[in-house]
Amino acid sequence: MRLLVLLLLAGAVLAQAPSTQAPSNAAPGLKSIGTMSEVMVRIIFPTSNEIFYVARNENKTEKDWEDLRNNAVMLAEAANLLMADNRAKDKDRWMKDATLLRNVGDKAFKAAKVKDLEGLKALNDELYEACQSCHEHYRPGYRRKL
Ligand code: HEC
Repeated sequence: MRLLVLLLLAGAVLAQAPSTQAPSNAAPGLKSIGTMSEVMVRIIFPTSNEIFYVARNENKTEKDWEDLRNNAVMLAEAANLLMADNRAKDKDRWMKDATLLRNVGDKAFKAAKVKDLEGLKALNDELYEACQSCHEHYRPGYRRKL
């Protein structure tokens, strides 16, 4: 019994040894959790839909406005996610395309904060262009549907 305990303790020490010797200068940093496709489908698609279809209900409750504000800021910040080093496909066109999305998300957030329904409706084309521009450049197999 005592031997078993000793062995277990020794095992624990041995198991710990590598991590105590591992270099501790590996700084925490960005790490993708979702694929690009998952970020699109699970974050950008649903949040942008709330802006695209903002006109389907003209009589918004306080909760509707709160949801719009949430979705707008998530969309705008998701554009920042796209620009992060672990996701950006390059430092030029990709960043410009992602900036289009962040700008329109920023405008949507500001409009939602002051409950400006007409302002939100007016962002429809700009939002569509932001998605379209990046997809034309970077989405595999994307065809312009015109
Ligand atoms: C800065 C670039 C960029 C912007 C802006 C962008 N996308 Fe994407 N999107 C991509 C890329 C790259 C893919 C292909 C991902 C893959 O298949 O790996 C994609 C794919 C998608 C897909 C398909 C995902 C799948 O696998 O089925 C959807 C849906 C989508 N985007 C929605 C949107 C919407 C809606 C917007 C605008 C509100 C938008 N995206 C803006 C880069 C972008």
